[in-house]
Amino acid sequence: MKDEEGKFTLQTSDFQEFWSLDPGVTFLNHGSFGACPKAVLAVQQKLRSQLEIEPIRFFGREWEPLLDHARNQLAEFVGADSQDLVFVNNATTGVNSVLRSLSFCAEDEILTTNHEYNACRNALDFIASRTGARIVIAQIPFPIDSPQQVIAAVMERVSPQTRLALLDHITSQTGLIFPIQQLVQQLQQLGVDILIDGAHAPGMIALSLREIGATYYTGNCHKWLCAPKGAAFLYVQRDKQSQIRPLTISHGANSPRTDKTRFQLEFDWTGTDDPTAYMCIPDAIAFMGSLLRGGWSELRQRNHQLVLEARQVLCQALGVLPPCPEEMIGSMAVIPLPAAWDNRHFLAVHDELFDNFGIQVQVVPWYESPRLLVRISAQIYNTPEQYVYLATALSKLQNC
Ligand SMILES: Cc1ncc(COP(=O)(O)O)c(C=O)c1O
Repeated sequence: MKDEEGKFTLQTSDFQEFWSLDPGVTFLNHGSFGACPKAVLAVQQKLRSQLEIEPIRFFGREWEPLLDHARNQLAEFVGADSQDLVFVNNATTGVNSVLRSLSFCAEDEILTTNHEYNACRNALDFIASRTGARIVIAQIPFPIDSPQQVIAAVMERVSPQTRLALLDHITSQTGLIFPIQQLVQQLQQLGVDILIDGAHAPGMIALSLREIGATYYTGNCHKWLCAPKGAAFLYVQRDKQSQIRPLTISHGANSPRTDKTRFQLEFDWTGTDDPTAYMCIPDAIAFMGSLLRGGWSELRQRNHQLVLEARQVLCQALGVLPPCPEEMIGSMAVIPLPAAWDNRHFLAVHDELFDNFGIQVQVVPWYESPRLLVRISAQIYNTPEQYVYLATALSKLQNC
Protein backbone atom coordinates (compact mmCIF):
# COMPACT_ATOMS: atom_id res chain seq x y z
CA MET A 1 0.00 0.00 0.00
CA LYS A 2 3.03 2.29 -0.36
CA ASP A 3 3.18 4.73 -3.28
CA GLU A 4 6.32 5.52 -5.31
CA GLU A 5 7.60 7.85 -2.61
CA GLY A 6 7.18 5.15 0.02
CA LYS A 7 4.05 6.76 1.47
CA PHE A 8 1.04 4.68 2.42
CA THR A 9 -2.01 5.44 0.31
CA LEU A 10 -5.35 4.20 1.44
CA GLN A 11 -8.69 5.81 0.73
CA THR A 12 -9.60 7.88 3.79
CA SER A 13 -12.88 9.45 4.79
CA ASP A 14 -13.87 12.93 3.62
CA PHE A 15 -13.88 13.87 7.28
CA GLN A 16 -10.16 13.23 7.67
CA GLU A 17 -9.37 16.71 6.34
CA PHE A 18 -10.84 18.15 9.55
CA TRP A 19 -8.04 16.52 11.54
CA SER A 20 -4.28 17.03 11.40
CA LEU A 21 -3.75 13.27 11.37
CA ASP A 22 -0.99 12.06 9.05
CA PRO A 23 -2.75 10.93 5.84
CA GLY A 24 0.02 8.37 5.39
CA VAL A 25 -1.05 6.52 8.53
CA THR A 26 -4.12 4.32 8.86
CA PHE A 27 -5.08 5.63 12.26
CA LEU A 28 -7.24 3.11 14.09
CA ASN A 29 -6.40 4.17 17.62
CA HIS A 30 -8.57 7.11 18.53
CA GLY A 31 -9.08 5.48 21.90
CA SER A 32 -5.62 5.96 23.36
CA PHE A 33 -5.28 9.73 23.25
CA GLY A 34 -8.18 10.97 21.10
CA ALA A 35 -7.44 13.34 18.23
CA CYS A 36 -8.44 16.98 18.24
CA PRO A 37 -9.97 18.54 15.10
CA LYS A 38 -8.10 21.45 13.50
CA ALA A 39 -11.04 23.80 14.10
CA VAL A 40 -10.92 23.16 17.85
CA LEU A 41 -7.13 23.55 17.94
CA ALA A 42 -7.58 26.90 16.18
CA VAL A 43 -9.91 28.05 18.97
CA GLN A 44 -7.33 26.93 21.51
CA GLN A 45 -4.64 28.90 19.71
CA LYS A 46 -6.85 32.00 19.81
CA LEU A 47 -7.41 31.58 23.52
CA ARG A 48 -3.69 31.14 24.10
CA SER A 49 -3.03 34.35 22.18
CA GLN A 50 -5.68 36.11 24.25
CA LEU A 51 -3.88 34.91 27.38
CA GLU A 52 -0.42 35.92 26.24
CA ILE A 53 -1.46 39.39 25.00
CA GLU A 54 -2.45 40.39 28.54
CA PRO A 55 -1.89 37.60 31.10
CA ILE A 56 -3.01 39.69 34.07
CA ARG A 57 -6.29 40.69 32.44
CA PHE A 58 -6.81 37.11 31.24
CA PHE A 59 -6.38 35.49 34.65
CA GLY A 60 -7.91 38.42 36.52
CA ARG A 61 -11.06 38.93 34.49
CA GLU A 62 -11.47 36.61 31.53
CA TRP A 63 -10.40 33.24 32.83
CA GLU A 64 -13.24 32.50 35.25
CA PRO A 65 -16.23 33.35 32.99
CA LEU A 66 -14.63 31.23 30.24
CA LEU A 67 -14.13 28.35 32.66
CA ASP A 68 -17.68 28.61 34.00
CA HIS A 69 -19.09 28.71 30.48
CA ALA A 70 -17.16 25.54 29.61
CA ARG A 71 -18.41 23.88 32.81
CA ASN A 72 -22.04 24.78 32.03
CA GLN A 73 -21.82 23.39 28.50
CA LEU A 74 -20.10 20.24 29.68
CA ALA A 75 -22.66 19.76 32.45
CA GLU A 76 -25.44 19.82 29.88
CA PHE A 77 -23.56 17.34 27.68
CA VAL A 78 -22.96 14.82 30.47
CA GLY A 79 -26.30 15.27 32.22
CA ALA A 80 -25.06 16.82 35.44
CA ASP A 81 -25.51 20.05 37.40
CA SER A 82 -22.54 22.32 36.77
CA GLN A 83 -22.28 22.80 40.54
CA ASP A 84 -21.13 19.19 40.82
CA LEU A 85 -18.36 19.37 38.21
CA VAL A 86 -14.74 20.48 38.34
CA PHE A 87 -12.05 20.25 35.71
CA VAL A 88 -8.96 18.07 36.00
CA ASN A 89 -6.26 17.43 33.42
CA ASN A 90 -7.14 13.79 32.86
CA ALA A 91 -9.04 10.84 34.25
CA THR A 92 -5.93 9.58 36.07
CA THR A 93 -5.91 12.82 38.05
CA GLY A 94 -9.65 12.48 38.69
CA VAL A 95 -9.20 8.98 40.11
CA ASN A 96 -6.16 9.99 42.18
CA SER A 97 -7.90 13.08 43.56
CA VAL A 98 -10.72 10.99 44.99
CA LEU A 99 -8.53 8.14 46.26
CA ARG A 100 -6.03 10.48 47.91
CA SER A 101 -8.80 12.56 49.54
CA LEU A 102 -10.51 9.66 51.28
CA SER A 103 -9.15 8.13 54.45
CA PHE A 104 -8.90 4.37 54.59
CA CYS A 105 -7.80 2.05 57.36
CA ALA A 106 -6.44 -1.49 57.50
CA GLU A 107 -9.94 -2.97 57.92
CA ASP A 108 -11.20 -1.38 54.71
CA GLU A 109 -11.54 -3.05 51.33
CA ILE A 110 -11.51 -1.28 48.00
CA LEU A 111 -13.14 -3.29 45.25
CA THR A 112 -12.05 -3.21 41.64
CA THR A 113 -11.84 -5.61 38.70
CA ASN A 114 -9.15 -7.46 36.79
CA HIS A 115 -9.96 -5.19 33.80
CA GLU A 116 -8.87 -2.07 35.71
CA TYR A 117 -6.60 0.35 33.85
CA ASN A 118 -3.00 -0.09 34.98
CA ALA A 119 -2.41 3.54 36.07
CA CYS A 120 -5.48 3.51 38.32
CA ARG A 121 -4.61 0.09 39.66
CA ASN A 122 -1.25 1.59 40.65
CA ALA A 123 -3.08 4.41 42.43
CA LEU A 124 -5.05 1.79 44.37
CA ASP A 125 -1.88 -0.08 45.29
CA PHE A 126 -0.34 3.18 46.48
CA ILE A 127 -3.35 3.82 48.76
CA ALA A 128 -3.16 0.25 50.02
CA SER A 129 0.55 0.58 50.83
CA ARG A 130 -0.08 3.80 52.77
CA THR A 131 -3.21 2.79 54.68
CA GLY A 132 -3.22 -1.00 54.86
CA ALA A 133 -6.56 -1.13 53.02
CA ARG A 134 -7.03 -4.32 51.01
CA ILE A 135 -7.59 -4.20 47.25
CA VAL A 136 -10.14 -6.84 46.26
CA ILE A 137 -10.25 -7.88 42.63
CA ALA A 138 -13.45 -9.12 41.00
CA GLN A 139 -12.54 -11.52 38.20
CA ILE A 140 -14.55 -10.66 35.12
CA PRO A 141 -14.22 -13.22 32.35
CA PHE A 142 -13.03 -12.34 28.89
CA PRO A 143 -14.37 -13.47 26.43
CA ILE A 144 -17.67 -12.62 28.08
CA ASP A 145 -21.28 -13.50 27.22
CA SER A 146 -23.33 -10.83 28.96
CA PRO A 147 -23.25 -7.70 31.17
CA GLN A 148 -24.85 -9.80 33.91
CA GLN A 149 -21.54 -11.62 34.32
CA VAL A 150 -19.93 -8.31 35.26
CA ILE A 151 -22.60 -7.61 37.86
CA ALA A 152 -22.34 -11.12 39.31
CA ALA A 153 -18.53 -11.01 39.49
CA VAL A 154 -18.48 -7.60 41.21
CA MET A 155 -21.30 -8.24 43.66
CA GLU A 156 -19.79 -11.57 44.67
CA ARG A 157 -16.76 -9.75 46.06
CA VAL A 158 -18.63 -7.18 48.16
CA SER A 159 -18.17 -7.66 51.90
CA PRO A 160 -19.12 -5.65 55.00
CA GLN A 161 -15.61 -4.13 54.77
CA THR A 162 -16.06 -2.78 51.23
CA ARG A 163 -15.72 1.00 51.48
CA LEU A 164 -15.36 1.95 47.84
CA ALA A 165 -15.59 0.35 44.41
CA LEU A 166 -13.45 1.70 41.58
CA LEU A 167 -15.03 0.56 38.32
CA ASP A 168 -14.39 1.49 34.70
CA HIS A 169 -17.35 2.59 32.65
CA ILE A 170 -15.58 1.42 29.47
CA THR A 171 -12.55 -0.76 29.97
CA SER A 172 -9.25 0.02 28.32
CA GLN A 173 -7.75 -3.38 27.55
CA THR A 174 -11.02 -5.07 26.61
CA GLY A 175 -13.15 -2.17 25.34
CA LEU A 176 -16.19 -3.37 27.31
CA ILE A 177 -19.03 -1.13 28.43
CA PHE A 178 -19.79 -2.19 31.98
CA PRO A 179 -23.44 -2.05 33.18
CA ILE A 180 -22.58 0.86 35.41
CA GLN A 181 -26.05 1.99 36.31
CA GLN A 182 -27.10 -1.40 37.67
CA LEU A 183 -23.77 -1.75 39.48
CA VAL A 184 -24.20 1.64 41.13
CA GLN A 185 -27.73 0.78 42.24
CA GLN A 186 -26.76 -2.58 43.70
CA LEU A 187 -23.61 -1.31 45.41
CA GLN A 188 -25.36 1.70 46.87
CA GLN A 189 -28.01 -0.56 48.40
CA LEU A 190 -25.16 -2.17 50.32
CA GLY A 191 -23.76 1.21 51.37
CA VAL A 192 -20.71 1.08 49.07
CA ASP A 193 -19.51 4.32 47.46
CA ILE A 194 -18.56 4.09 43.81
CA LEU A 195 -15.86 5.86 41.86
CA ILE A 196 -16.44 5.43 38.13
CA ASP A 197 -13.52 5.83 35.79
CA GLY A 198 -15.29 7.01 32.64
CA ALA A 199 -12.10 7.88 30.73
CA HIS A 200 -13.62 6.76 27.41
CA ALA A 201 -17.29 7.49 27.98
CA PRO A 202 -17.94 11.19 27.15
CA GLY A 203 -18.58 11.37 23.43
CA MET A 204 -18.52 7.60 22.88
CA ILE A 205 -21.81 6.84 24.60
CA ALA A 206 -24.73 9.01 25.73
CA LEU A 207 -24.15 10.02 29.34
CA SER A 208 -26.41 11.14 32.14
CA LEU A 209 -24.45 11.40 35.35
CA ARG A 210 -27.68 12.25 37.12
CA GLU A 211 -29.19 8.91 36.10
CA ILE A 212 -26.04 6.93 36.83
CA GLY A 213 -26.01 8.37 40.34
CA ALA A 214 -22.41 7.40 41.18
CA THR A 215 -20.71 8.96 44.17
CA TYR A 216 -17.76 10.03 42.03
CA TYR A 217 -17.31 9.99 38.25
CA THR A 218 -14.33 11.13 36.22
CA GLY A 219 -14.25 11.36 32.43
CA ASN A 220 -11.92 12.56 29.71
CA CYS A 221 -12.92 15.19 27.19
CA HIS A 222 -9.74 14.72 25.16
CA LYS A 223 -10.69 11.26 23.93
CA TRP A 224 -14.12 10.86 22.29
CA LEU A 225 -15.32 14.39 22.85
CA CYS A 226 -12.26 15.51 20.83
CA ALA A 227 -11.24 18.45 23.03
CA PRO A 228 -7.54 19.35 23.21
CA LYS A 229 -5.30 17.24 25.44
CA GLY A 230 -5.54 17.92 29.15
CA ALA A 231 -9.33 18.32 29.36
CA ALA A 232 -11.20 16.09 31.79
CA PHE A 233 -13.69 16.44 34.61
CA LEU A 234 -14.50 15.12 38.02
CA TYR A 235 -18.08 14.86 39.25
CA VAL A 236 -18.66 14.50 42.96
CA GLN A 237 -22.00 13.91 44.63
CA ARG A 238 -22.92 17.10 46.47
CA ASP A 239 -22.78 15.79 50.03
CA LYS A 240 -19.27 14.40 49.46
CA GLN A 241 -17.76 17.50 47.85
CA SER A 242 -16.33 18.96 51.05
CA GLN A 243 -14.16 15.84 51.47
CA ILE A 244 -12.64 15.81 48.00
CA ARG A 245 -9.54 17.98 47.56
CA PRO A 246 -7.35 18.48 44.51
CA LEU A 247 -3.91 16.84 44.46
CA THR A 248 -2.42 20.34 44.63
CA ILE A 249 -3.55 22.60 47.46
CA SER A 250 -3.57 26.24 46.39
CA HIS A 251 -5.39 29.56 46.93
CA GLY A 252 -8.87 28.03 47.02
CA ALA A 253 -8.17 26.40 50.40
CA ASN A 254 -8.58 29.68 52.31
CA SER A 255 -10.40 31.82 49.78
CA PRO A 256 -12.91 34.11 51.54
CA ARG A 257 -15.27 33.88 48.55
CA THR A 258 -18.73 32.58 49.22
CA ASP A 259 -20.17 32.71 45.69
CA LYS A 260 -18.69 29.28 44.87
CA THR A 261 -18.22 26.09 46.86
CA ARG A 262 -14.85 25.30 48.37
CA PHE A 263 -14.87 22.23 46.07
CA GLN A 264 -14.94 24.43 42.95
CA LEU A 265 -12.67 27.16 44.36
CA GLU A 266 -10.01 24.58 45.13
CA PHE A 267 -10.15 22.62 41.87
CA ASP A 268 -10.56 25.70 39.65
CA TRP A 269 -7.15 27.03 40.63
CA THR A 270 -4.35 24.57 41.33
CA GLY A 271 -1.55 26.97 40.36
CA THR A 272 -0.67 28.68 37.10
CA ASP A 273 -1.39 26.42 34.16
CA ASP A 274 -2.76 26.58 30.63
CA PRO A 275 -6.55 26.32 31.08
CA THR A 276 -7.38 26.62 27.37
CA ALA A 277 -8.07 22.91 26.84
CA TYR A 278 -11.03 23.17 29.25
CA MET A 279 -12.25 26.33 27.56
CA CYS A 280 -12.39 24.56 24.19
CA ILE A 281 -14.81 21.89 25.42
CA PRO A 282 -17.90 23.84 24.20
CA ASP A 283 -16.25 24.20 20.77
CA ALA A 284 -15.44 20.49 20.62
CA ILE A 285 -19.02 19.63 21.56
CA ALA A 286 -20.36 22.00 18.90
CA PHE A 287 -17.90 20.95 16.19
CA MET A 288 -18.32 17.20 16.57
CA GLY A 289 -22.07 17.65 16.90
CA SER A 290 -22.18 19.57 13.62
CA LEU A 291 -20.52 16.94 11.42
CA LEU A 292 -23.67 14.90 10.76
CA ARG A 293 -27.24 16.01 10.38
CA GLY A 294 -28.27 13.86 13.33
CA GLY A 295 -25.67 15.47 15.58
CA TRP A 296 -24.02 13.56 18.39
CA SER A 297 -26.45 10.67 18.45
CA GLU A 298 -25.86 9.96 14.75
CA LEU A 299 -22.11 10.29 15.26
CA ARG A 300 -22.10 7.83 18.14
CA GLN A 301 -24.33 5.42 16.22
CA ARG A 302 -22.19 5.65 13.10
CA ASN A 303 -18.98 4.98 15.03
CA HIS A 304 -20.66 2.07 16.80
CA GLN A 305 -21.85 0.51 13.52
CA LEU A 306 -18.45 0.99 11.93
CA VAL A 307 -16.61 -0.74 14.76
CA LEU A 308 -19.08 -3.64 14.75
CA GLU A 309 -18.61 -4.17 11.01
CA ALA A 310 -14.86 -3.86 11.43
CA ARG A 311 -14.86 -6.45 14.22
CA GLN A 312 -16.75 -8.87 12.01
CA VAL A 313 -14.28 -8.40 9.15
CA LEU A 314 -11.33 -8.97 11.46
CA CYS A 315 -12.82 -11.96 13.25
CA GLN A 316 -13.64 -13.62 9.93
CA ALA A 317 -10.22 -12.94 8.45
CA LEU A 318 -8.42 -14.27 11.51
CA GLY A 319 -10.78 -17.15 12.22
CA VAL A 320 -11.60 -16.03 15.75
CA LEU A 321 -14.89 -15.51 17.58
CA PRO A 322 -16.11 -12.10 18.78
CA PRO A 323 -15.28 -12.03 22.49
CA CYS A 324 -18.32 -10.10 23.73
CA PRO A 325 -21.90 -9.27 22.74
CA GLU A 326 -22.48 -6.20 20.56
CA GLU A 327 -24.39 -4.45 23.35
CA MET A 328 -21.16 -4.26 25.38
CA ILE A 329 -19.34 -2.28 22.68
CA GLY A 330 -19.29 1.45 22.00
CA SER A 331 -16.81 2.55 19.36
CA MET A 332 -13.86 0.42 20.42
CA ALA A 333 -13.71 -3.32 19.91
CA VAL A 334 -11.17 -5.89 20.98
CA ILE A 335 -10.27 -8.92 18.90
CA PRO A 336 -8.24 -11.77 20.38
CA LEU A 337 -5.52 -12.70 17.91
CA PRO A 338 -5.02 -16.33 16.88
CA ALA A 339 -3.04 -18.53 19.22
CA ALA A 340 0.25 -18.00 17.36
CA TRP A 341 0.73 -14.73 19.24
CA ASP A 342 0.79 -14.11 22.96
CA ASN A 343 1.47 -11.11 25.18
CA ARG A 344 5.22 -11.29 24.61
CA HIS A 345 4.63 -10.29 20.99
CA PHE A 346 2.65 -7.12 21.63
CA LEU A 347 5.37 -4.63 20.72
CA ALA A 348 6.55 -6.67 17.75
CA VAL A 349 3.04 -6.92 16.30
CA HIS A 350 2.39 -3.21 16.88
CA ASP A 351 5.69 -2.21 15.30
CA GLU A 352 5.30 -4.57 12.32
CA LEU A 353 1.87 -3.09 11.60
CA PHE A 354 3.13 0.45 11.91
CA ASP A 355 6.49 0.12 10.17
CA ASN A 356 5.47 -2.19 7.34
CA PHE A 357 1.83 -1.30 6.79
CA GLY A 358 1.50 2.23 8.19
CA ILE A 359 -1.24 1.09 10.58
CA GLN A 360 -1.53 2.63 14.01
CA VAL A 361 -3.59 0.32 16.17
CA GLN A 362 -3.53 -0.63 19.83
CA VAL A 363 -2.02 -4.05 20.47
CA VAL A 364 -2.87 -4.69 24.09
CA PRO A 365 -0.50 -6.34 26.53
CA TRP A 366 -3.03 -7.66 29.05
CA TYR A 367 -1.70 -10.47 31.14
CA GLU A 368 -5.17 -11.62 32.21
CA SER A 369 -5.66 -12.84 28.65
CA PRO A 370 -3.69 -15.78 27.25
CA ARG A 371 -4.32 -14.35 23.78
CA LEU A 372 -2.81 -11.14 22.47
CA LEU A 373 -5.56 -8.56 21.95
CA VAL A 374 -5.93 -5.94 19.23
CA ARG A 375 -8.16 -2.98 20.06
CA ILE A 376 -9.65 -1.07 17.16
CA SER A 377 -11.32 2.32 17.43
CA ALA A 378 -13.83 3.85 15.04
CA GLN A 379 -14.11 7.61 14.68
CA ILE A 380 -15.78 9.56 11.91
CA TYR A 381 -12.51 9.97 9.99
CA ASN A 382 -12.19 6.17 9.64
CA THR A 383 -13.50 4.07 6.75
CA PRO A 384 -14.50 0.39 6.46
CA GLU A 385 -11.62 -0.17 4.00
CA GLN A 386 -9.10 0.68 6.69
CA TYR A 387 -10.17 -2.32 8.77
CA VAL A 388 -10.10 -4.62 5.73
CA TYR A 389 -6.55 -3.41 5.25
CA LEU A 390 -5.75 -4.20 8.91
CA ALA A 391 -7.26 -7.66 8.49
CA THR A 392 -5.09 -8.24 5.41
CA ALA A 393 -1.99 -7.03 7.23
CA LEU A 394 -2.65 -9.27 10.25
CA SER A 395 -3.30 -12.27 8.01
CA LYS A 396 -0.02 -11.63 6.22
CA LEU A 397 1.84 -11.37 9.52
CA GLN A 398 0.20 -14.54 10.74
CA ASN A 399 1.45 -16.42 7.67
CA CYS A 400 5.02 -15.10 7.88
C1 LIG B 1 -10.14 3.15 31.69
C2 LIG B 1 -9.11 4.22 31.60
N1 LIG B 1 -8.85 4.94 32.69
C3 LIG B 1 -7.95 5.93 32.67
C4 LIG B 1 -7.26 6.23 31.53
C5 LIG B 1 -6.24 7.30 31.57
O1 LIG B 1 -6.60 8.42 30.85
P1 LIG B 1 -5.69 9.68 31.00
O2 LIG B 1 -4.32 9.28 30.55
O3 LIG B 1 -6.30 10.70 30.14
O4 LIG B 1 -5.68 10.02 32.45
C6 LIG B 1 -7.49 5.50 30.36
C7 LIG B 1 -6.75 5.79 29.13
O5 LIG B 1 -6.89 5.22 28.11
C8 LIG B 1 -8.44 4.46 30.40
O6 LIG B 1 -8.69 3.70 29.33
